[in-house]
Amino acid sequence: MSIDQSGVWRFRDLLPIVDDLEHVVTLREGNTPLYDLPRASKALGLDWILAKHQGMNPTGSFKDTGMTAALSVARERGFEWVACASTGNTSAAMAAYAARAALRSIVFIPEGKIAWGKLSQSMDYGALTVQLRTDFDGCVRVLTELVSRFPIYLLNSVNPYRLEGQKTPAFELLEQLEWQVPEHIVVPGGNLANGSALAKGFSEMHHLGLISRVPKVSIIQAEGANPLYRSLQENNGEELIPVKANTRATAIRIGNPASWRKALRALRTTGGWCEQVSEQEIALAKAEIGSEGIGCEPASAVTLAGLKKLVAQGKVGREERVVLILTGHTLKDSNYTIDYHRGELFTEEENAQISGSDQILHAAL
Ligand code: F0G
Repeated sequence: MSIDQSGVWRFRDLLPIVDDLEHVVTLREGNTPLYDLPRASKALGLDWILAKHQGMNPTGSFKDTGMTAALSVARERGFEWVACASTGNTSAAMAAYAARAALRSIVFIPEGKIAWGKLSQSMDYGALTVQLRTDFDGCVRVLTELVSRFPIYLLNSVNPYRLEGQKTPAFELLEQLEWQVPEHIVVPGGNLANGSALAKGFSEMHHLGLISRVPKVSIIQAEGANPLYRSLQENNGEELIPVKANTRATAIRIGNPASWRKALRALRTTGGWCEQVSEQEIALAKAEIGSEGIGCEPASAVTLAGLKKLVAQGKVGREERVVLILTGHTLKDSNYTIDYHRGELFTEEENAQISGSDQILHAAL
């Protein structure tokens, strides 16, 4: 497969990570669509909300852009085994790219805490899939121990090449916008690598003189998995306050994120904000994105839920252009969607907690 068909490797001049391009492992990732969200824009009184749908990657999430990069490095360096801990999407992507490269892969996932669609993917692509009776943070601890003892290539987002791949959607986005820089980019925050990878992409373009300023990159966390948000509130980001994470947006159910310092830097260098959103706000935003004919997984919907808050706080103005990064495909977690529309996701009491700003948007749809 030609690497020119990859939306990541067509930017290879800005991706100097493999010596020999023969080693590149690609599934034609990237080149994802940019959609407008006319109803959400109207309801929020903004002229311009777009969604860059990273769920349209080969394994259904943004992780593919990082995996093509890091698996290529693993192959070039002659590793036979790769491994990751995951809330489901990293493992799906790693398993697929490892299979493509004819490498063996091992996945640690928290038992019962990831969406079935994602679990089925890593099995389908032939990864040794191990469910552990712990959470994501516990899986990371086991993985760290494993890679310290065996020659296994670590593919969590602490791997710097993952971030190199994950910066390329920033280039692609600007290309799609004909180099008009939006004011705001909104991303979900879990292990906190993606926001920093995109900020790196924007800053590289800025340094190269391709754009005259960088957009503000804002990171949104679920209230039940909000260590960055809390740390910023309580100690101005000087120290991370790990939390016991709990959210139905299982992709971002992470209490002790590895890349929090990088995320903080992304917020500070771009001027973005960190917000948190409730379970009800996430579910409603997800249904709203679905009702535009787009759809996404719950973790991606925190972007719209967070944007509502930023607008309400006056941090995003009417004429400012906003791009939401939708990180995963709606079919990744269909149980969530069905439960929500059957009215079974929340108790009556929880449903009653839907906030005023949510109701406004809902009524406008
Ligand atoms: N959205 C989705 C759909 C994700 O799967 C993740 C992370 C995020 C957002 C958050 O990105 O970690 O870079 O802040 N998923 C990881 C995984 C942790 O294992 O699949 P982040």
